[in-house]
Amino acid sequence: MLQIRHLIEPTDFSVKELEDLFELADLIIDDPKKYLHQCDGKIMVTLFYEPSTRTRFSFEAAMMRLGGSVLGFSDPNSSSTAKGENIPDTIRIVSGYADIAVMRHPVEGAPKAASLFSRIPVINAGDGGHQHPTQTLTDLYTIRSKFGRLHDLKVGICGDLKYGRTTHSLVKAMARYPGNEFVFISPEELRMPAYICDDLDRSGAAKYTECRTIEEGIGDVDILYMTRIQRERFSDLDEYDRIKDSCILNMDKMKLAKEDMIVLHPLPRVNEIHYEVDNDKRACYFEQAENGMYVRMSLIMLLLDETGDFYNGRVLSVNDSVMSFLELDRCRNPKCITQIEPSLRQRFITYGDGIKVCDYCGAVLQKG
Ligand code: CP
Repeated sequence: MLQIRHLIEPTDFSVKELEDLFELADLIIDDPKKYLHQCDGKIMVTLFYEPSTRTRFSFEAAMMRLGGSVLGFSDPNSSSTAKGENIPDTIRIVSGYADIAVMRHPVEGAPKAASLFSRIPVINAGDGGHQHPTQTLTDLYTIRSKFGRLHDLKVGICGDLKYGRTTHSLVKAMARYPGNEFVFISPEELRMPAYICDDLDRSGAAKYTECRTIEEGIGDVDILYMTRIQRERFSDLDEYDRIKDSCILNMDKMKLAKEDMIVLHPLPRVNEIHYEVDNDKRACYFEQAENGMYVRMSLIMLLLDETGDFYNGRVLSVNDSVMSFLELDRCRNPKCITQIEPSLRQRFITYGDGIKVCDYCGAVLQKG
């Protein structure tokens, strides 16, 4: 029997658990009718403080296809957030109404904060420029279905690597599989954040290189993961205008890529992939979005412990990362939820080499 689990970070599930989750998604795709009543009588609440098409609808469709029901909001102004209700109180209340919560929030660490006050599983559906773990499940599942493996792959990640939360989660997740390598392709201003690169440097889990143009990076990658430049995260819109067209994929650039390379994109796209690329067999981003619904069905079943006999005979492994919490310091990331919700206790993770990071937003407080 599973204890209450949340999905806040892409590494909250072990590699073994992820493989189980993907195998269950395979089974659902093969025979969706078999799962029509798996979550009968269960309720999902979707708390979306930021716009979404894919994540919210795929979660809602997933729950409905499992026989469950959905309630929630897609605009916080239609909830008591508009009257000043905070996240701890909101999640305490909906814990009494629903069986599982899905939260998207513009502030880094908000779903983590919610999970600390919740009596039901909380799923992070994207927190500011920080993480988007269920997009990563979708990405990994699509890569696995295309290559038959999640290891020994060269992954080009292109566009807004600074604010693109899907890229941060993808790197954390793919670095757990042996032999993977990254090529970070972005304008100087939107480079991968130091905390992600430091993590790779420290762990030695995966090699990475950086370059500024698609032409430099596309030649030998197995996967090109494109992202949108995130206008809504810029404080200086002149800077956005200056760099918004830096990384655009067109058919001329696709000619430089391997024949069996695949192009992924979490979507939505603005102009970073020309429409003509959609007709190339290597463009897999629409299939990727559809996979998201099946992976989320699998995730809901897992977190609600409604997998039926799927786990009979399987050993559930547990994430074995060791944490210790200190509460003397304050997180200095101005976009962290602890700056906005004064009632939250500070929480830090201290790793063996002395590096200390905020447990909500991942900001590094102290280098090792
Ligand atoms: N990929 C993704 O998160 O899309 P939405 O913003 O539409 O949910």
